[in-house]
Amino acid sequence: MSSETYGVAVVGAGYWGPNLIRNFRSSRDWHLVAVVDLDTERAQQVVGAQSDILVTGDLDDVLARDDVAAVAIATPARTHQGIAERALRAGKHVLVEKPLAGDVAAGRSMVATAQENGLVLMADHTYCYTPVVQKIRELVDDGSLGEILFVDSVRINLGLVQPDVDVFWDLAPHDLSILDYILPGGLRPTGVAAQGSDPLGSGRSCVGYLTLPLEGGAMAHVHVNWLSPTKIRQMVIGGSKRTLLWDDLNPQQRLSVFDRGVDLIQQSVDSADRRTASISYRLGDTWAPALPEREALGQMVAEFAGSIREQRASVTDGAAGLRVLSVLEAAQTSLRARGSLVEVASDTPALEIVR
Ligand SMILES: NC(=O)c1ccc[n+]([C@@H]2O[C@H](COP(=O)([O-])OP(=O)(O)OC[C@H]3O[C@@H](n4cnc5c(N)ncnc54)[C@H](O)[C@@H]3O)[C@@H](O)[C@H]2O)c1
Repeated sequence: MSSETYGVAVVGAGYWGPNLIRNFRSSRDWHLVAVVDLDTERAQQVVGAQSDILVTGDLDDVLARDDVAAVAIATPARTHQGIAERALRAGKHVLVEKPLAGDVAAGRSMVATAQENGLVLMADHTYCYTPVVQKIRELVDDGSLGEILFVDSVRINLGLVQPDVDVFWDLAPHDLSILDYILPGGLRPTGVAAQGSDPLGSGRSCVGYLTLPLEGGAMAHVHVNWLSPTKIRQMVIGGSKRTLLWDDLNPQQRLSVFDRGVDLIQQSVDSADRRTASISYRLGDTWAPALPEREALGQMVAEFAGSIREQRASVTDGAAGLRVLSVLEAAQTSLRARGSLVEVASDTPALEIVR
């Protein structure tokens, strides 16, 4: 493999940007050339005083530089499109924090601009680079779970009520991007129903439930909540052969695979035209796959470099970001329609990555 390293500029040094900065700095694939933030004092603090890394408040300072091959954006979602498209037009590859953009139209335009310029546009769907989610995808792909029957995801804690987004836009991108990564064919629900509540009167949903019917009769459900004093990060994926439980707050046993399930033995229609089903229950072992300890963002920045080097789409490319955005936007429409099931935009890009 080539040992070429790429110069990168990180835009946004607020809460999340420093994590990107740290990982680009420690990566063998990258050298950090610049940090851009409107708050240059904050950016300088993050970079440290003794450093030759450029700190600037002006994006044009880095777009003009030949030693910057890529720009990583960790600013609020509504600013992603403007920054990303300026960078793409200047010939830079772009990594964007989740969610890809503030709305689907902006995301679509970003994907088109990257395509027109032949550049990589990647979404930082961080969880997809964790060992546990990679293991889950492997178990889905190799058929260990059988057909997926249901997914139940719970992401609740006492969270900061955000000034600009509701709990769906803040937390659900994680669950949705994980679903996009692990479901065969990516996240392609046949509809979205969302219910949200704002019991504090904050002006936005602080508790949210998303129901996503999937093709073939399966169903995914996502519960996100800023008001829960107990923190829960769990996902159950029920399959026709096995079911797994991912409990992210249990480092001793993050992932459990249950060799148990329900089988439909036979379905019959009786004389009164009632459908009856004979069900049998399988009771087998539960086991815990071994998982390496590895920082997800290290893998993520390596994948960004790999996709540039190999001139291919990254596993969490702009299209993946757009699929997540499309579900979020459909959820907004459903919220306004009091939870009715609404369709996801039909031109949402399909999964192109070969698995
Ligand atoms: N991947 C993850 O797990 C994860 C976690 C948290 C946040 N995020 C995402 O990271 C992004 C940033 O979130 P945050 O919590 O760090 O926000 P933040 O408000 O803490 O930081 C944003 C920074 O961007 C700077 N900024 C804003 N507009 C700018 C512009 N036009 N040019 C240059 N700098 C600008 C601000 O000065 C600030 O320092 C969001 O998209 C968020 O969803 C991702």
